[in-house]
Amino acid sequence: MKKIVFGNDHSAVQMKKELIPYIEGKGYEVVNVGTDEEKSIDYPVVGEMVANMVASGNADFGIAVCGTGLGISLACNKVNGIRACVCSDAYTARYSRLHNNCNILCFGARVIGVETAKMLIDEFLDTQFEGGRHARRVDLIMDIERRNRSGQ
Ligand code: RB5
Repeated sequence: MKKIVFGNDHSAVQMKKELIPYIEGKGYEVVNVGTDEEKSIDYPVVGEMVANMVASGNADFGIAVCGTGLGISLACNKVNGIRACVCSDAYTARYSRLHNNCNILCFGARVIGVETAKMLIDEFLDTQFEGGRHARRVDLIMDIERRNRSGQ
């Protein structure tokens, strides 16, 4: 069974209650590393947990949610091997897989509603990377990461 790691800060606690059963209903195992309380937490901590699970192969894909999706995506993208994207429409979510081979989907719980979030999840999880000329471009992105690694 494919595994999804789901991480969120305080802004997405209510949305998550509906999204995790939805993802499980699609046949995935979901590991919840986000907060379940409304008390304010720091999204970079959660973003790093999501990203580490994906980068290490302990999860197939990640879903990371904060208020805007921006902060948590920035945190995820600091981990080597991660391609996290912020989406708020189905087309972008679909192409994030098809052309960019993204491995973490991010969105903003204060930006989109839960039904849109489900559409993004469907597009992201149901779409395969197209490869071909897009593989060369994704490799070029990862070359930038390799050239800029601190080695820490
Ligand atoms: C928290 O208030 C908020 O800053 C966070 O959820 C996110 O939107 C940051 O990018």
